[in-house]
Amino acid sequence: MNTKVQIAGVELKNPVMTASGTFGSGMEYSEFVDLNKLGAVVTKGVANVPWEGNPTPRVAEVYGGMLNAIGLQNPGIDVFMERDIPFLEKYDTKIVVNVCGKTVEDYLEVVEKLGDSPAHLLEINVSCPNVKEGAIAFGQKADYLYDITSAIKKKAKQPIIMKLSPNVTDIGEMAKAAEAAGADAISLINTLTGMKIDIHKRKFVLANKTGGLSGPAIKPVAVRMVYQAAQAVKIPIIGMGGIANGEDAIEFLMAGATAVAVGAMNFINPYITEEIIAEIEAWVTENNPKYANRIIKQLKSFKKTNGLDDSFDPYKAAYSSMPSHAAASPAIQQMYINGHFCYAFKFGIVTNGLGIVRHISFYNKDFLESHPEIIVGKKSDSPDEDKSLADSKALVPTLKDFFQKHPLINPKTFLGDAAFDSIGIYKYLLQETSFEKVYIPLKNKLKIEGIDYVVNDDGIPCCPHDASLLMKREGSKSHLRSGLPTMKFVCPKMKWEWDSIAKKTKRVCHCDTPCTASSCGRMIYIYPEQNLRAYPGTIRGTREWDSTYKVRVNVEKSINHFKDSFCVADRKTQNEKTLHADLLLAGITQLITVMAADKLHRHQYIRSLKPLIA
Ligand SMILES: Cc1cc2nc3c(=O)[nH]c(=O)nc-3n(C[C@H](O)[C@H](O)[C@H](O)COP(=O)(O)O)c2cc1C
Repeated sequence: MNTKVQIAGVELKNPVMTASGTFGSGMEYSEFVDLNKLGAVVTKGVANVPWEGNPTPRVAEVYGGMLNAIGLQNPGIDVFMERDIPFLEKYDTKIVVNVCGKTVEDYLEVVEKLGDSPAHLLEINVSCPNVKEGAIAFGQKADYLYDITSAIKKKAKQPIIMKLSPNVTDIGEMAKAAEAAGADAISLINTLTGMKIDIHKRKFVLANKTGGLSGPAIKPVAVRMVYQAAQAVKIPIIGMGGIANGEDAIEFLMAGATAVAVGAMNFINPYITEEIIAEIEAWVTENNPKYANRIIKQLKSFKKTNGLDDSFDPYKAAYSSMPSHAAASPAIQQMYINGHFCYAFKFGIVTNGLGIVRHISFYNKDFLESHPEIIVGKKSDSPDEDKSLADSKALVPTLKDFFQKHPLINPKTFLGDAAFDSIGIYKYLLQETSFEKVYIPLKNKLKIEGIDYVVNDDGIPCCPHDASLLMKREGSKSHLRSGLPTMKFVCPKMKWEWDSIAKKTKRVCHCDTPCTASSCGRMIYIYPEQNLRAYPGTIRGTREWDSTYKVRVNVEKSINHFKDSFCVADRKTQNEKTLHADLLLAGITQLITVMAADKLHRHQYIRSLKPLIA
């Protein structure tokens, strides 16, 4: 799985870094974390001379995170170069040195000394809220930020990342100033200024009174700022602030970050960075819809170009690269094989026009076994069958189960989307069930064998010489066994005119290029019995069609409501049974709502439990 990213020409093996000040220089964590696995190690801020930091107490736990007022305590660049850089150099990871200072000259001195070091990137901290002079001031005024960035850029041998403060009004403006001054990347957010008071002692908890807030509590602010910065600049962004798991990291990447850094959570769980890397990899793998197909293709061409014999089986090789949870669950494994993992657990819901659930079918092994008529074709030379069930194949068996369980329900109108537009489905619905009208939009233009005219999306035949002219529908009495009226269409240029000799009206075709020798003009009949698709008991494109089809909105809403409930929407589970249970519970909840609303005579709330309870 490739999760490499590039920051200013430096390639990181994955997008996960440590956040400065929360991981020392890596040494303290090396017994928990394999540093080789990290995208980069970002060191604690280092200044030109040693800094003592602030008086204690300087950290405090708060709801959802922590406050710190360490004050950038550090041993100074000389000790750092001698002690920390050689340690980090032993690892196959990228080294990012975080630089702090009180004046521009302080920063420049450190940057200059790091010039010939093996550091890959320099992160310039202009945003620490816990030091009295310098630092934060640079990060809070766009013109100061511009000046310090351009001064450092001129001196630095490595690409520079400007670390921005969240304690500003307009983060976009700050990001733009850094970019304009030549920053190669930006990172954000540093901590938010916070405070904690011990109400029993009536004292500030931190000796510094204020401290920087970090941890999950700041994540929404951080995501928002990363997003705003990403809208404002083109340079890469390293996002951080409260990242506690792989999904948090993905959220930052989606907001526009190229890489992420993990800070305060290292103190809670020292293994967290490695765990997040694994979670990102699993997420990327699982959300790649053509995962197995792509790998199989690559391995096949690998076999060919390297002239390998049949002892190399691309399928076996591809399956062995699936994540272990996929191999452990036959259902998920099957979905990898099918190439659309996102639909690992497919199900069908039958609702009435109000969107109230009547039936749920789970398209699993049991369903396929109880419906041997479903033939799922083999797509390729794969040793495994493609057992994916198309919507159109699932409908008839689902309805068969439904009608068998509910013989007293005899619906007259079917509403479905274009996925169900197949001849077999119209036949089943109109000839084997109680449905009299079937509202299914056409998937493709209606094809009727052996005709010289086209039929438009609404099923109306068009003039053979000019497809933009629709033939005119003429009502006709039914002479068919089914009682369905024959569909008769006449030439659009035909008019009924009075024949004074015959003393009656007759058809006269006024076409200059007639497509028939008849003076009445062309007539086209579509026989519903022969083509239920053309006339599914109703006419496409009419007002009746449009107003009835609108009812599907209820159904869509209801289905989305189902998907939102429990773990269905976000696939939080990889367990088929849990998902089934959740779905059934969602259905039961909906039905109880209907019954309660009915008993209380509050029919307007049949679809929404919350206002009903209120
Ligand atoms: C104890 C502590 C020390 C920190 N020291 C530094 C530092 O030296 N330089 C810096 O740029 N950021 C420093 N930070 C800020 C973090 O790198 C990070 O930007 C911030 O904590 C938000 O991420 P988090 O919520 O994942 O911790 C420090 C944060 C903490 C909690």
